[in-house]
Amino acid sequence: MKGIILSGGSATRLRPCTKITSKQLLPVYNRPMIYYPLNTLIKAGIKEILIIVAPERAGDYLNLLGSGKEFGVKFTYEVQDKPRGLADAFIIGENFIDQGNVTMILGDNIFEDDFSKEIKSFKSGAKVFAKKVSDPERFGVVKFDDNMRAVQIEEKPKKWISDYALTGLYIYDGSVVEASKSVKPSERGELEITELHNWYLKRGELEVAMVKGEWLDAGTFDSLLEAQILAKEKLQDKLVI
Ligand code: DAU
Repeated sequence: MKGIILSGGSATRLRPCTKITSKQLLPVYNRPMIYYPLNTLIKAGIKEILIIVAPERAGDYLNLLGSGKEFGVKFTYEVQDKPRGLADAFIIGENFIDQGNVTMILGDNIFEDDFSKEIKSFKSGAKVFAKKVSDPERFGVVKFDDNMRAVQIEEKPKKWISDYALTGLYIYDGSVVEASKSVKPSERGELEITELHNWYLKRGELEVAMVKGEWLDAGTFDSLLEAQILAKEKLQDKLVI
């Protein structure tokens, strides 16, 4: 299993704090934000991690994280010249993935849970993680049937379909590269990760598990503040880096 952290984008919602730095390098209590998703991958035993960054921030990431030796892992870096969407990560990462299994986590997603078991036992298809939220319109959303089987997935639905958001942690087999290449840009011009989930859903190869502990997407000032508190009060003894 290899890992990808998607840490590009322009983070306009966090201006002016992100005018001269990347959102995922902003402090979350006593660590840069990216340490939290990195912790999730490293704790699950992933040793090879691709970090995808925006070109103007690449030097900062290299200075902060280096080769990975300090953390007992190996980092590879790629630049995403424009924020073309989450599924672009698998096109950029094609050679790195090399047809194997891959776990991707978004650089601004902070989880309380330990996903080691799910990541280590993954065989094939796709596995994604959902959490009940009060503001599903902010996220990719999954609708379940009466047996809690996923039946519909939509990105930021304008009309309510479900309260279950899909979090920014995704496990895929090597077909994810082919699937990403088949995705057409959405109305907002992005290769949506939701399309990948639908690609696997159509083939009956998508599994949706529930996130039990807390989860935050620290992409707004309010969620960043919540992340600081979560990190201070609940995460300190769960961190390995
Ligand atoms: O946080 C979970 C949500 O993340 C999911 O529920 C959604 O399905 C998924 O589309 C995504 O939604 P967001 O609106 O939060 O995506 P955002 O554009 O903020 O991008 C998420 C992270 O990925 C962010 O840290 C920036 C980075 N990113 C984003 C894009 C579009 C990149 O590095 N490159 C990109 O091209």
